[in-house]
Amino acid sequence: MHAPSPRCVRLSVVLKRIKAESGFCRCPEVLFAACELGVFDLLAEAPEALGSAAVAARLGVSSRGTELLLDACVSLKLLQVEVRREKAVYESTELASTYLARASPKSQQDMLLYTARTTYLCWGHLATAVRDGKNQYLKAFGVPSEELFTVIYRSRQAPFFFFGLAERWRLQRGNIAGRGWWLSPFPRVCDLGGGSRALAKACMSLYPGSQVTVFDIPDVVQMAKRHFSFLEDERIGFCEGDFFKDRLPEPDLCILARALHDWTGEKCSHLLGRTYQACKTGRR
Ligand SMILES: C[S@@+](CC[C@H](N)C(=O)[O-])C[C@H]1O[C@@H](n2cnc3c(N)ncnc32)[C@H](O)[C@@H]1O
Repeated sequence: MHAPSPRCVRLSVVLKRIKAESGFCRCPEVLFAACELGVFDLLAEAPEALGSAAVAARLGVSSRGTELLLDACVSLKLLQVEVRREKAVYESTELASTYLARASPKSQQDMLLYTARTTYLCWGHLATAVRDGKNQYLKAFGVPSEELFTVIYRSRQAPFFFFGLAERWRLQRGNIAGRGWWLSPFPRVCDLGGGSRALAKACMSLYPGSQVTVFDIPDVVQMAKRHFSFLEDERIGFCEGDFFKDRLPEPDLCILARALHDWTGEKCSHLLGRTYQACKTGRR
């Protein structure tokens, strides 16, 4: 047997690399498409592994496209394939049925679809972002960055995503408790950009005597009002406004959780200055 020529070796290394990298690059698209079409939901509920024609028929999509998509999912280890009676049949891996099927209590499907239709679109403009040193919201969403949240929360997936976030309050509770924060001296709290009210719920549960105002843009407050029952949370109030411009509540403590990373340093300084002015007791 001849040893491969150096030229052959280089070519095979390059081909392998292209394969690995293109697989990686297409990973999100494959994931998003399979979620959107309901592949993981169907396979999680099916009593047995299904062939691609059966999957295509039940989802009402093309058989050729389904076959390719299912194989791409297999290469990402989201599905497993087996040959039975000379026919390939597919079933979900544990990873997919746990995190990608909508019915699973740990499902991340809404979050993925929300990301696919919103922030992921910015990756298509990465070269321009590096060239200009600016975010590409205008190109990706057709709006300046100031209006980003209005657009994001209008996405079809937003209510589900929002609802999912709201249910993460136990995690937030753990974060507050784990960091050893002692917030009892600050009974009136304002969560600026509090969105889903997860942090508010966490505060309530740790400090039953506290009152939390969630301050957010009108679209978000309206969505929260449509989606949540307020009977269980009567100590949580909502305030609509723009935290850069509108009058802020005057609480004992202001919280800004994951609300600064969206803005330039200048805007953050402005917001932090306003927040500082708004807090009365102890200025926190
Ligand atoms: C990344 S989310 C963080 C939500 C929440 N604090 C959390 O940790 O899950 C940022 C929040 O800031 C809100 N927000 C963005 N611009 C705002 C503005 N100008 N005034 C008030 N809230 C704003 C958004 O609507 C969104 O709910």
